[in-house]
Amino acid sequence: MKTISLNNDLAIPAIGLGTWKSAPGEVGKAVETAIAAGYRHIDCAAIYGNEKEIGAALSKVFKQGLVKREDLWITSKLWNNAHRKADVIPALEQTLKDLQLEYLDLYLIHWPVAFKPDVVNASRAEDFLSLEQAPIQETWEAMEEAMEKGLCKSIGVSNFSVKKLKELLENCRVKPVMNQVELHPYLAQKELLDFCTDRGIVLTAYSPLGSGDRPEGMKKNDEPSLLENPVVKDIAHKKGCSPAQVLISWHLHRNCVVIPKSTHAGRIQDNLNSQDIDLNKDDMKALANLNKGYRYVDGTFFELEGNTYSNVFDQ
Ligand code: A2P
Repeated sequence: MKTISLNNDLAIPAIGLGTWKSAPGEVGKAVETAIAAGYRHIDCAAIYGNEKEIGAALSKVFKQGLVKREDLWITSKLWNNAHRKADVIPALEQTLKDLQLEYLDLYLIHWPVAFKPDVVNASRAEDFLSLEQAPIQETWEAMEEAMEKGLCKSIGVSNFSVKKLKELLENCRVKPVMNQVELHPYLAQKELLDFCTDRGIVLTAYSPLGSGDRPEGMKKNDEPSLLENPVVKDIAHKKGCSPAQVLISWHLHRNCVVIPKSTHAGRIQDNLNSQDIDLNKDDMKALANLNKGYRYVDGTFFELEGNTYSNVFDQ
């Protein structure tokens, strides 16, 4: 399995199993199937609401002797309601308990957005804390502390803009190793990728297949399909592979990590096999031409009248 080196000398497996939207009753089996298929990287988050089932699956594969803990790369993410300094380590400890692990390989700040501690899904302006009330700098200091305590081996962020990363880099003791963002041929994020590459920060691509299984409320009526795109399909046809494999392979060719989600054994295997798909310069150029700055996860769900979180990806 291809790995990508991080700025802390660790190496992350380039393809991981995404678990956002993986339903209870399905996600554990998906994790077991993925590990048996050869995945060594599972991407989790507290807010996905499925870490307990993933923990049971991990515990099972360890007991079976399929893999050892140190063979796996496990990422999880701090939810928006635990950004205050005193709340970060307890949130991470809860995730570790749910996942039945002693440490994570990577812990990310999920969004540069803070909620009040008792709010899980913010629906009113008063559910939020402003960044003055819960500064990212303080959240990051607690992330650094968590790492120094051995609760995670690496720390990073998710959904951070160049501007937010600059502010963080100016003030941190430990540099983030990762920024996990939406990334696919419709949203190539070249400026962000170049900025991060220059500073030794790797990008992980979420929604690499367009996240067609998002809740209806997060979808627009006229969404473009990545899997049905004629250019993607044409390259897939030429290579004798699936459109999903082209989309996944594209990230490996850009030296990014990618975390396609599936709960079906056949697709879990196909997605991993994307590492064998070779894209040439013309293929990469054709895919680069698809960029139109299109976001499936557009962040507007954080924009409520009276709060301070408009244009979360540009601020
Ligand atoms: P399923 O879980 O039923 O296999 P993303 O990773 O962008 O969030 O996309 C996840 C969506 O893509 C899910 O609906 C998932 O369905 C589907 N998917 C995953 N792998 C493939 C594949 N190889 N071909 C087509 N659809 C896929």
